[in-house]
Amino acid sequence: MKEVKIDINIHSYSYEELDATDKMLIDAAIEATNRSYAPYSNFAVGAAALLENGKVVTGTNQENAAYPSGTCAERTTLFYANSEYPDQPVVTLAVAAKSPSGFLDRPIPPCGACRQVLMEVEQRYKRPMRIMLYSKNEIYVMYGTRNLLPLSFASDYME
Ligand code: THU
Repeated sequence: MKEVKIDINIHSYSYEELDATDKMLIDAAIEATNRSYAPYSNFAVGAAALLENGKVVTGTNQENAAYPSGTCAERTTLFYANSEYPDQPVVTLAVAAKSPSGFLDRPIPPCGACRQVLMEVEQRYKRPMRIMLYSKNEIYVMYGTRNLLPLSFASDYME
C-alpha cells in the first residue's frame, strides 16, 4: 500500500490586495447577488466571468418550486457565457454569496456539480481558469479547476 497525496493550491487575498481587474470582477459578482432568484433558500449567489475578449458576464442562482430544477450562479454564468460567446475562453470566474445575515465570512465553495462544469469549460478552451471565491474576510484565488476538483473525471477517460 502506498498513500497518494494530491496537492491543491489556494491563495488567500484581502480585497485591498487584489488588482483593479480582480476587484472589478469581485464587485460584479457581489452586485449580481441582487439579481438572484432564491425564494426557497434565501441564499443569494452571484458570479461574474471575465472572458478573453475582456467582456464580463454575470449570472445568479435561479431557484424553482420543483427544487432540482433550479441552478447555481456558477452554472448560470458559464452556460450563458458559453452560449453567447462560444469562441471565448473564460479567464476568471468570481463568485460571491449572501445569506439573510449578509455576505459570508468564509469563501463560498462551489457545489460538486458546478465544479464538474467549471472543469469541462476549462478543458473545452484548453486554458486554466482562475477562480475567485469571495468572503468578507478573505478571497480565495485558485489557478485552475484542479485545485477545486482534484482527481476529476473528464472525457479523456472514455477514450
Ligand atoms: N448555490 C449557488 O448558486 N452556488 C454555490 O456555489 C452554492 C449554492 C445556490 C443553489 C441554491 O439556489 C442555493 O445556493 C442554496 O443551495
